[in-house]
Amino acid sequence: MASAIKVSKSIPRLEGKVALITGGSRGIGESIARLFTKHGAKVIIADILDDLGQTVCQNIGLDLAAFIHCDVCIESDMERAVNFTIEKYGKLDIMINNAAIAGDLKFSILENDVSDFERVLSVNVTGVFLGTKHAARVMIPNRGGSIISIGSIASSIGGNTSHAYTSSKHAVVGLTKNVAAELGEFGIRVNCVSPHFILTPATKPIVEQYPHLYTNVYSNLKGLDLQEQDVAEATLFFASDESKYISGHNLAIDGGFTAINPSFGLFSRLKAN
Ligand SMILES: NC(=O)c1ccc[n+]([C@@H]2O[C@H](COP(=O)([O-])OP(=O)(O)OC[C@H]3O[C@@H](n4cnc5c(N)ncnc54)[C@H](O)[C@@H]3O)[C@@H](O)[C@H]2O)c1
Repeated sequence: MASAIKVSKSIPRLEGKVALITGGSRGIGESIARLFTKHGAKVIIADILDDLGQTVCQNIGLDLAAFIHCDVCIESDMERAVNFTIEKYGKLDIMINNAAIAGDLKFSILENDVSDFERVLSVNVTGVFLGTKHAARVMIPNRGGSIISIGSIASSIGGNTSHAYTSSKHAVVGLTKNVAAELGEFGIRVNCVSPHFILTPATKPIVEQYPHLYTNVYSNLKGLDLQEQDVAEATLFFASDESKYISGHNLAIDGGFTAINPSFGLFSRLKAN
């Protein structure tokens, strides 16, 4: 008979672990950094927003958090960020590929510029590839680690954002699954978390530009708005040993949004909105 499992909420879930978080200077990445350090982890924030990132680290406490300038599209930057983590804390247990950009919102593909498309793919896909590659480089010898990338509802459905962003976020899931297949033999888990819309510094200008499209975000869960903290909590689960047998997964944090089409049928709610 299985023995009863006792869970104490006061036990830090990342005690002794080291995490590198790209794009941690603000928004969801900052929330992840703050939550992880509350759970006993040491974190490195790698971002292009140096002043903000340094301030976040000072605020968390320089004994727990450090900043390094890193453009995720540049391999030497990513390599340096991972090496800095090893020099400072001796290892890397958790890699969070969070940095991303939305790109220009255009209503016709005919107006989409190649340069904007490629820039979005560069940050959102090449950045995740480089983060994963250099995390794997130092995790493989340790035979363990957890790599988590931030996807989106645009990882599984279309029509919510730009062509470039949707393409990039689908690619993040593909990369997650492929690398999970490769790195399993080294005990390294690779997962993705995919949030619905959240008001962050990245989305605020979009809401201001298109209030008729992005203000009244449809939520299947009545009365709840998704918060940065909710994404951080899901990421914490994948980072901790509680998810030790989960790899290659894309976890939607969307209240059922991508699983449900509410436009027609028995449970249609659109008329109520
Ligand atoms: N906010 C949302 O509604 C939402 C929804 C689904 C998924 N996401 C995803 O969550 C993640 C975080 O988004 P956010 O809303 O917190 O955005 P944000 O813009 O507030 O934060 C993104 C961070 O990434 C950094 N960054 C951008 N380009 C970079 C580069 N080349 N190199 C290093 N750092 C770079 C930025 O400086 C910033 O600190 C992204 O992957 C985003 O696609 C956001």
